Amino acid sequence: MAKITKLDDIVSLCKRRGFIFQSSEIYGGLASCYDYGPLGVELKNNVKKAWWKSVVQMRDDVVGVDCSILMHPLVWKASGHTDQFADLVAECKKCHIRSRVDHLVERADEHTEHIALGVAMTKAQDLSNKVCPACGAVGQFTEPMPFKLMFETKMGANVDDSMTVYIRPETAQGIFANFRNVLDSTRIKIPFGIAQIGKSFRNEVTTKAFIFRTREFEQAELEFFCEPGSDEQWYERWKELRFNWYLGLGVKKENLRFRDHDRNELAHYAKACADIEYRFPFGSGDWQELEGIANRTDYDLRQHQRGMRTLNKWFENDRDVTKIELAPEAEDYQSGPLSYFDDEKRKRYIPYVIEPSAGIDRSTLAFLVDAYDEEEVRGETRNLLRLHPALAPMKVGVFPLVKRDGMPEVARNIYNDLKRHFNCFYDEKSAIGRRYRRQDEAGTPFCVTVDGQTLQDKTVTIRERDSMEQVRVSTDHLLGHLRDRLEM
Ligand code: GAP
Repeated sequence: MAKITKLDDIVSLCKRRGFIFQSSEIYGGLASCYDYGPLGVELKNNVKKAWWKSVVQMRDDVVGVDCSILMHPLVWKASGHTDQFADLVAECKKCHIRSRVDHLVERADEHTEHIALGVAMTKAQDLSNKVCPACGAVGQFTEPMPFKLMFETKMGANVDDSMTVYIRPETAQGIFANFRNVLDSTRIKIPFGIAQIGKSFRNEVTTKAFIFRTREFEQAELEFFCEPGSDEQWYERWKELRFNWYLGLGVKKENLRFRDHDRNELAHYAKACADIEYRFPFGSGDWQELEGIANRTDYDLRQHQRGMRTLNKWFENDRDVTKIELAPEAEDYQSGPLSYFDDEKRKRYIPYVIEPSAGIDRSTLAFLVDAYDEEEVRGETRNLLRLHPALAPMKVGVFPLVKRDGMPEVARNIYNDLKRHFNCFYDEKSAIGRRYRRQDEAGTPFCVTVDGQTLQDKTVTIRERDSMEQVRVSTDHLLGHLRDRLEM
């Protein structure tokens, strides 16, 4: 029977093989922050490359941007984050640990990654019989209170010009703020998308499960702008495309599903939202959000038009967004500065937006969990990562069978040649079986071994990670053979 993968297996493999480390570990660690090691950074970069290839490179209707993390404070006022991006928390009067109210009440973390903007604040909850997850005290909670999730910092060296700015909690707003720039600098026409991968930061009340929910994380977001009326079709299309992306990278179908949000879960701007969920191995195996796909309507662009109209008020109020209200929407907002003019249909409108929003760290965790396997081979346990070749940190391991008879020199030449094409790893230490096992654990799809026969007939063995089957290939055909099998 297949072994059920536990998160502990993954955490220990990640540490042992240099995928992921606790941040600041030599100082006892910084909670919920992680560093990617030599193999981890390759894996994570491959996840990003695969996303970019599918969402930007292979499409004629999507362009990319890379926006700054710090943005004008009015961006967050307009988007609603300054006033509403908060979790409702209650503090245990005994241990003073705060818990998310939705987690206490209905364990909504099994379903909802984030309480949508504006939804959390409206829920009144009875906590009189609720148990503190930290100390076990019953009914000891304070009244629920909002806890703001955006990190703040000060910008500017002089007292007079320093102001509070926010460290972005999502990459999406950089895209909305550049909608006009992209339109004016490219000849792209609606329907089109703007994509971005980058870091986001949230002062999460509860972090959990390794890199699943952290305070610093990376997002891959697409804002796809379309004509109102065509939004429902695009929403369905992007749901399908994003689901298939995970399947195409080898995630098992039985571990993926959609979950449509109920009406009362939707943020006030969203017309529809669905999560792609993955069956993560926390506890007994929970379905958890991997990615959200939302129909954000024309909300964000309209809000930013209001934000632009608020600029004077912001200057007049010490550049402090907490002191001001957003200006009302202009009556002719449909022809405002963030509107789009369709020259074929001769009409102007604020586009609707479909947003597939993925977590790079979270999908990296899902790929690791899904690929992890243990099997018995000749009385020994073989641990391996059956990663898709596009995601594997190293594509090929190159070894001399033994460290003599000229084999290392030939193997080094092959390695030097192959590494111009793929990430390769050269190893001549320890027994060949152990070297194979190390590459199995690193997820390397192929190992090339130079042996005595190589010196006579210029052939090498290629060993495949999953089946452990070996074939002999002439060195002249090695590159082409690997290319075909790696699909690169
Ligand atoms: N722009 C929409 C947005 O940010 P979200 O559901 O809050 O929506 C999108 O986040 C994705 O970002 C999530 O599905 C998840 O993969 C990832 N994500 C969100 N918060 C995270 C956290 N604290 N740690 C790791 N990943 C997170």
